[in-house]
Amino acid sequence: MPPLMPGPTPRFLAACRREPVDRTPVWMMRQAGRYQPSYRAVREKVSFLELCRSPELVAQVTVAPIDQFGFDAAILFSDILVHLPAMGLDLSFEKGEKGKGDGGPKIANPVRTRADVDALRIPDPKKDLPYVLDGIRGIRTALRDRVPLIGFVGGPFTVASYAVEGGSQGFTRLKTLLYAEPETAHALFEKLTRAAIVQIEEQVAAGAQAAQVFESWLGELDREDLETFAFPYLARIAEALRRTGVPSIFFSTGTNGNLEALAQLGFDVLSVDWRIPIDLARARAPGAAIQGNMDSTVLLGPREVAVARARAILGAAGPRPGYIFNLGHGIQPGTPPENVKAVVEAVHGYAWK
Ligand code: CP3
Repeated sequence: MPPLMPGPTPRFLAACRREPVDRTPVWMMRQAGRYQPSYRAVREKVSFLELCRSPELVAQVTVAPIDQFGFDAAILFSDILVHLPAMGLDLSFEKGEKGKGDGGPKIANPVRTRADVDALRIPDPKKDLPYVLDGIRGIRTALRDRVPLIGFVGGPFTVASYAVEGGSQGFTRLKTLLYAEPETAHALFEKLTRAAIVQIEEQVAAGAQAAQVFESWLGELDREDLETFAFPYLARIAEALRRTGVPSIFFSTGTNGNLEALAQLGFDVLSVDWRIPIDLARARAPGAAIQGNMDSTVLLGPREVAVARARAILGAAGPRPGYIFNLGHGIQPGTPPENVKAVVEAVHGYAWK
């Protein structure tokens, strides 16, 4: 049956494709999280992983910021590490100190040797991660096409940093592996790439309408290591995403020195951090849409400052199609929800003269 009345392309998807929009689309990484009282209330009853594994709760916390703030896209509530148990890694999220919120991820049996890499299994999302796919279907039902849903996976380097270090413990073990045992490192990135591709394909099949690759820590690598250990794998993920037909977004931080090279990987949208003026990012990657790039710390400050900074970024980004307002990294715990609301309204109300 053909769709009865195909509506206009949602402004977030139009901007991903560098088509004109009525207003600048805005969403924020970590828009569902601890800064929201409603999220904290859910987390008082269940652990973070229990939350990720409950399709009903996933739908509830994913949709809450859409209702509350009027964002132009929803992002699946999950984590870039949820598939690691299916690969054979013992993942937990530590409770953290009282009053300080959560702790970080912990892997009890980190990947250290070639044998460890060879033992990793490629997950089967339908069998191993049914709650993610059911979550996506539940979110689509709850959204009723008000805004598109973004699915996501972690980039191979960023996921490897947790798998090898055993948690958020820096990058020296992983980087030493690149230099000491490059073949082992390649075997690891190969498996993490295949794991990322099957997950994102299944997320799109379940109803995700765009996909973001979170390669948050890629800025750790110099150009030679990027070309050897990261770009070939990322290009494969971009290619797999192109075949799904949904727009692809590549997010990283600390990589602005390599923007032209990132623009060659084949993603539709590049999400840039706050360390580069947005007009410069747009000029240096003219073939991609650009997403970003307000410093999330600005949202902790006075509301007028946050609104003024958002307007300054919009002014610099300019009216040329292909721009999505976002932060340079995720919303921080402790962010006043009223500041988020004020920035979303400022973005939607902004017009270039
Ligand atoms: O953007 C979104 O709103 C979607 C949900 C999402 C989460 N994690 C929820 C989460 C996404 C896309 C992620 C990705 C993720 N997870 C990344 C890449 C993005 C980034 O922020 O750099 C990384 C590195 C992880 C691994 C991870 N998960 C860490 C290091 C931590 C602990 C530190 C922290 O920020 O709290 C998590 C936990 C986590 N993932 C929380 C949330 C909302 C906090 C859990 C809680 O206490 O409720």
